[in-house]
Amino acid sequence: EQTLSKKSLRLLLAAPRGFCAGVDRAIQIVEIALEQHGAPVYVRHEIVHNRYVVDSLKAKGAVFVEELDEVPDGGHVVFSAHGVPKSVPANAQQRGLAYFDATCPLVSKVHRQAERQVEAGRHIIFVGHEGHPEVIGTFGQVPIGAMTLVETADDARSIAPADPNNLAFLTQTTLSVDDTSEIVGILQQRFPNIVGPKGEDICYATSNRQESVKAIAHECDLVLVIGAPNSSNSLRLVEVAVRSGATAYLVQRAEDISLNWFDDVHTLGLTAGASAPEVLVREIIDALSLHFDLDEQQVTTAEETVTFKLPRELASVAN
Ligand code: F3S
Repeated sequence: EQTLSKKSLRLLLAAPRGFCAGVDRAIQIVEIALEQHGAPVYVRHEIVHNRYVVDSLKAKGAVFVEELDEVPDGGHVVFSAHGVPKSVPANAQQRGLAYFDATCPLVSKVHRQAERQVEAGRHIIFVGHEGHPEVIGTFGQVPIGAMTLVETADDARSIAPADPNNLAFLTQTTLSVDDTSEIVGILQQRFPNIVGPKGEDICYATSNRQESVKAIAHECDLVLVIGAPNSSNSLRLVEVAVRSGATAYLVQRAEDISLNWFDDVHTLGLTAGASAPEVLVREIIDALSLHFDLDEQQVTTAEETVTFKLPRELASVAN
């Protein structure tokens, strides 16, 4: 009888979704450090912004801390995928702590660009979200005052740099593609000599996930984005879905889903931020299938083949 009463629900799965190469690598670094050195291995900041991932690593012996002073002498510490200010590895070295840097190579690339622009004598306008660890890390690559944060189009319109002819811009990797191109456009219009990357520094995973959710959202009554409230790229996926006309919610686990969200829903979209594992996508589909007769269909907008090498000191163990 229950089977008969199940409402049918069309489910559009966005692809690409979920883990990116940088998240994959960061988690591997913690796992290999644990294998190589035994528990505990300390991790400064959530390795990636996902509670399920953090809890799984905790169960294997990772200890999460916010600052290095919480790591005892002689400890091994991993820096999170978001990157760290230069002062952090310097401090670790000073204390003789063994550290592994899980900073995503695409974030490190922005760090090096920041250094280069400062060496070239340019002031940097950085497009990003205040307080995000990636922004703190990138600001920490250059002397204080060498970089100014711009968060919105209004900021870009009102900023008044001392030397408008000697500017560079860089961006956070996990921003909204549409908002950022607007902000960069304003900067380029106001400061025609500003130099910067082609387009911006938004990474392949961020832009692919935004494109794939855009491709389904206009057909959906509701879009669920699996991700954490502190995950920048996941929050951007919710925004993209809402702008395409869907109702969209961020959920972390199946238990966050409320059945009354589905009253007028015929087509549901599902995607996951770059730090959310596929197992959580399956968990949510399994939970929904208890209540709905699901007609599942994947919509693929890009194929991803990007992988990143492990740090040299860990690579030999992995092989
Ligand atoms: Fe790196 Fe982009 Fe993922 S910067 S960690 S590939 S979201």
